[in-house]
Amino acid sequence: MKAAVINGSPGMEKGNTAFVLEPFLEGMKDAGCEVELFYASALNIKPCSCSIMYCWYKNPGECIIKDDMVKLYPALRGADILVLATPVYIPLPGEMQNLINRLCPLLDPVLKFQEARTRAKFRENVNITKIALVSTSGWWELGNFDVVVHIVEELAKNANVKFAGAVLRPHVHFLRHKATPNADRKEILEALKKAGSELVSEDKMHKKTLELISHPLISKEKILQIYNS
Ligand SMILES: Cc1cc2nc3c(=O)[nH]c(=O)nc-3n(C[C@H](O)[C@H](O)[C@H](O)COP(=O)(O)O)c2cc1C
Repeated sequence: MKAAVINGSPGMEKGNTAFVLEPFLEGMKDAGCEVELFYASALNIKPCSCSIMYCWYKNPGECIIKDDMVKLYPALRGADILVLATPVYIPLPGEMQNLINRLCPLLDPVLKFQEARTRAKFRENVNITKIALVSTSGWWELGNFDVVVHIVEELAKNANVKFAGAVLRPHVHFLRHKATPNADRKEILEALKKAGSELVSEDKMHKKTLELISHPLISKEKILQIYNS
């Protein structure tokens, strides 16, 4: 089994998203998955500038823009699992949004009406069967992730593949903070590894594992006090 993983954080390997993603990917590898990791910010990925849907109607499956997506498309087509990892940036870093828009050539515009929505599907030459999200944010509450989760869920529905769940770590800075008890950090890092393993070996990640990853490390009152001081 192969996974293509996109980390959309401009902080790349030094960022909070990478800190959370690392044990998750370790779990995926332990479960026997071959993982290929890409940093959106390290790639030259231009925004989609093609209003004529060239990749759907003019030259099906091929993007008109020749940049680093040319290298990325084969890795994406060959993967069984797609993991999108991103910080919440009201809602996404630009690099990540550009990359998501540029997934259009992988979609086959044989449209269907499902649950009152128009949907496409991945092309025959795309192996991806499930998409998962890994996301980090600064603020306290989980509601902060709603838009990002919705974007990735919509992508999975438009590709007609399973949305395998969202690994969400709110107020992630406190996970790395030395004041956080080691036992709490250890529990979350272990749950991240478990979630990675579940993503590979099962249909979707377990609710209980995901809840453990997201659990509060500080009260909302305390976090406001710290951020406002
Ligand atoms: C431009 C920008 C917008 C952000 N917007 C939000 C936000 O809407 N909600 C939130 O909780 N955190 C927000 N954050 C904080 C980041 O989500 C948080 O620091 C994240 O962990 C950064 O991940 P990284 O280090 O991998 O880039 C924002 C940060 C930046 C720089």
